Order: sequence, then C-alpha cells, then structure tokens
Amino acid sequence: MSNEIENKLILTDQCRENLTSYTVQAFNKIHKIHRPVILDIGCGTGVPSIALLREIDDAFVVAVDQDEESLSWFRQKIDKLGFTERLKLIQASFFQTEKYQQKFDLILAEGILHIVGFQSGFLILKEMLENNGYMIIHDEKKDIQKKKNIFNLNNFEIIDCFELDRNIWWNDYFKCLEKSLSDLDDKQLFREEMNYIREFKKSPELFESVYFVLKKQVH
Ligand SMILES: C[S@@+](CC[C@H](N)C(=O)[O-])C[C@H]1O[C@@H](n2cnc3c(N)ncnc32)[C@H](O)[C@@H]1O
Repeated sequence: MSNEIENKLILTDQCRENLTSYTVQAFNKIHKIHRPVILDIGCGTGVPSIALLREIDDAFVVAVDQDEESLSWFRQKIDKLGFTERLKLIQASFFQTEKYQQKFDLILAEGILHIVGFQSGFLILKEMLENNGYMIIHDEKKDIQKKKNIFNLNNFEIIDCFELDRNIWWNDYFKCLEKSLSDLDDKQLFREEMNYIREFKKSPELFESVYFVLKKQVH
C-alpha cells in the first residue's frame, strides 16, 4: 500500500473514530455476554470492530467486507494493536454467507443494509444470530416505522433506537474531514470525501442516521 493511500486511510479513520462512541452507546444497552462472538458485517477499515474489541476484553470478532484495500489496512492496524488472536478477517461479499456462516451472539451492521437491501439483508443476518442474540444496526434515517415493523414481524425486541442528526454528523465527522483536508496541499486522493462534504452541505438530511439495538427472541 502506498504512503499516500495509508495517509488517506489514517485521516478518514480519525474522523470515523469520532463516531465510535455511538457504537459503544448502542452496545451498552445489551446484557453482558460471556465471551461473545461478534460479526461485524461490512466492516470497512474496522473502526467499529476495534472500538468493540477495546470495550469487551473477552470478545472475538469476525469481520467481513468485500473491499481488499480496507481489509488490508484493517489487518495492519490489528497487528500493531495486538488484537490478532481475537479477530478473524474475511474477504467476502455480504451474500457469500458460506464464507462466514456460523452463529453469532452479536451482529453489528453499520452502513451496510441500505447498500445490500434492508429487508433481505436483515433476514440473511437473522439466520446467523443465536436465539436471544443481539443485533446493532446503523442505517439511513428513512422508513423507520417500516423497519420497526420488520423487526416486530420477525420477533425482534427493539431495545433502543436513537438518531444521529445532522449536527452530530457535522460536528463529529464532516467538520473533522473538512479541517483535515484544508491542511493538505494535494487533495487528489480525496475527491470522494470532498464530494461527500459538498453533498452534506447541500442536503444534510440525507446523511442523518439511526441506530437500532435489537434482541432476537425465542419463539
Ligand atoms: C459505509 S461503509 C461502512 C464501514 C464500517 N461498517 C463503518 O461503519 O465504518 C460500507 C462498507 O460496506 C462494504 N460493502 C458494500 N457492499 C458490500 C457487499 N455486497 N458485501 C460486503 N461488503 C460490502 C464496503 O466495502 C464498505 O466497507
């Protein structure tokens, strides 16, 4: 991986880390599980996975993403942090479930279900969750009642639901990105991020999001 790409990933991770307190806030709503096995689906560069590994001493995380560059950066970070024994990285599409099929105590799905299709994605993940297991979903703030109906119909208890509004997204994420980019001479590699900032300023409502903390109930 080139130095330029590494510097880019360091910078975007730093801004993403400002949002991990919400992952931890969601996690703190669930009952303590002894030696939980956690799936982080669509893990990206692993910022939420690492937050959970720091938070839960005895957790084992299986992290899945289709993007090789994100995974290779994630791998470098966990080697440095010494989490190698508590984490398994798998390169796979969401739909290649045979590559990561097992039962999990907790499934973390941040920023992935709106990409793969909310309902069909949720139903796939449901099958991989232990009875009485938990799911934390971070998704677009859209069709909230429809999503809640899907959870109810599938016997999931909604333990908590909270929103990240436009102020949170600006103060915790986009302001950080804008500030970091303004310090750079060469912004070529950050075209996508600059585009996101422009889009956010134009339509901040599109970036608002919701966390759902769910429990799969036994029939
Ligand atoms: C918005 S990012 C979220 C990353 C991470 N969960 C986070 O919250 O920081 C979405 C991630 O989903 C991954 N992704 C998108 N479609 C996927 C698919 N069909 N299968 C596996 N991963 C996918 C992307 O590579 C990207 O890393």
